[in-house]
Amino acid sequence: MSAWRIAAYRPIRPVLFRIDPERIHHASLAALRLSGGSSLGRSLCALASGVSSADAALAPLDLMGLRFRNRIGLGAGFDKDGVAIRGWAALGFGSIELGTVTPRPQAGNHRPRLFRLPRDEALINRMGFNNLGADALARRIEEARPSLPAGFVIGVNIGRNRDGDASDYPAAARMVADVADYLAINVSSPNTRGLRDLQDPGRLLDLLGAVRDEAPRPPILVKLAPDLDAGRLEDVIRALVASPAAGVILSNTTTNHNGLSMGSAAEPGGLSGRPLLTRTLDAIGRARFLARPPFAIIASGGIGSGTDAAAAMEAGANLVQLWTGLIYQGPGLIGDGMMAPS
Ligand SMILES: Cc1cc2nc3c(=O)[nH]c(=O)nc-3n(C[C@H](O)[C@H](O)[C@H](O)COP(=O)(O)O)c2cc1C
Repeated sequence: MSAWRIAAYRPIRPVLFRIDPERIHHASLAALRLSGGSSLGRSLCALASGVSSADAALAPLDLMGLRFRNRIGLGAGFDKDGVAIRGWAALGFGSIELGTVTPRPQAGNHRPRLFRLPRDEALINRMGFNNLGADALARRIEEARPSLPAGFVIGVNIGRNRDGDASDYPAAARMVADVADYLAINVSSPNTRGLRDLQDPGRLLDLLGAVRDEAPRPPILVKLAPDLDAGRLEDVIRALVASPAAGVILSNTTTNHNGLSMGSAAEPGGLSGRPLLTRTLDAIGRARFLARPPFAIIASGGIGSGTDAAAAMEAGANLVQLWTGLIYQGPGLIGDGMMAPS
């Protein structure tokens, strides 16, 4: 059981929250990288998440022609450059989505660019695709691959440089196509001007065709924004069902900051965490109504417990991804999510 792990994390959280969010993020990634490199470290990871390597492979899933050892994944943007791949496997995840990477490295926006909203169990970020570039990520994945367990799926989320255009997607896809198990096309981050315009069904189909030409092998997912109204979302899903896409990720962060407690709520950027859950479940339900299996639906947005994970699967998701929930509930959330009935 993982409930005690989540309870044990609660008194640690205020200590971590005294440190600048981006600094503690990088420190945690460095610690996870170190842990993934030794058998003692990997055992500590399993202890922290409540998922042993045997447990992690108990409920495998076949989706998009891939075998996932379980339904709990890590969302994009947590480990953009793939620094701690072995550590994520040791924590028990069935999949991780690295990136967003762009064809050329870029620094992202000025700091501060990541803010906590503890009363809402939320974050606001305007990172702006800080990353070391798609080539560098491809090398990291290649290096890590031989030491990874079976059924541990690595997706790569691709995007556009700040000064680039839509041709950046096929360019990034070419760089990672041989090492990625799947590609996720990110047309939904709110922090790159004009990016979300690519959600227009016509432009999206052109984009998918261009990416497919450069990357014939891995399945392609499209990650959408939670800010599409119901009609727009349904139009996009109808277009995707008849496209080379294998599925969707619902959804990214939102620009709608209504109803938050004060504090950092006025910071511009994408909101993630608990306030997203209702919208996530609604979008999944609408998408699943239009897109029957084998079209894949991956839940992202506000998953903060095993109950939330179960609700997302009940609504029609095949897999769930964690991100902000890990910051507020700690690594025990991975084990808790795994308990969700499928
Ligand atoms: C700091 C931060 C950085 C993120 N970076 C990316 C990114 O590079 N690409 C992407 O597709 N999503 C990115 N996301 C969005 C997450 O992958 C996820 O879709 C979103 O946070 C909603 O899930 P959550 O409520 O579980 O956090 C980022 C989220 C956060 C909080």
